[in-house]
Amino acid sequence: GADVEVDISGIQEGQLIRVMWRSKPVWVVRRTPEVLAALDGHDDKLKDPGSDTEQQPSYAQNVYRSIKEEYLVLVGICTHLGCSPQFLAEGAFTEYEESIENGFFCPCHGSKFDMAGRVFKNVPAGLNLVVPPYYFVDDNTILIG
Ligand code: FES
Repeated sequence: GADVEVDISGIQEGQLIRVMWRSKPVWVVRRTPEVLAALDGHDDKLKDPGSDTEQQPSYAQNVYRSIKEEYLVLVGICTHLGCSPQFLAEGAFTEYEESIENGFFCPCHGSKFDMAGRVFKNVPAGLNLVVPPYYFVDDNTILIG
């Protein structure tokens, strides 16, 4: 089938897992309370902090861009020219963005995204990373599709 069921019960805090959905990589990230708290303070550095300019599920149009704050679900494809961004774990981003400790970095042309997949200003990508359609089947299971 085209839909993918993901067991999220084993994802540790701070961890990212990858699944394939319709031939695309999809990430599920379990965000820490610190990461969630940090999402609120850097709107001025983002091109589209509210995901207003894009066609996105309504549950992606908030600061967390997710149904449950803790779990971020994203299509892992750069919105510039389709490369695969890297997940930068804690501390890795500080050399690029003061006060931003982690996020996603695209090695092809240097686009940067925060821990909600929101694109920073001054990079080639114009749009936030895509949130796919998904829902929670139960507390431990997400269905993508
Ligand atoms: Fe990601 Fe160009 S494809 S920055």
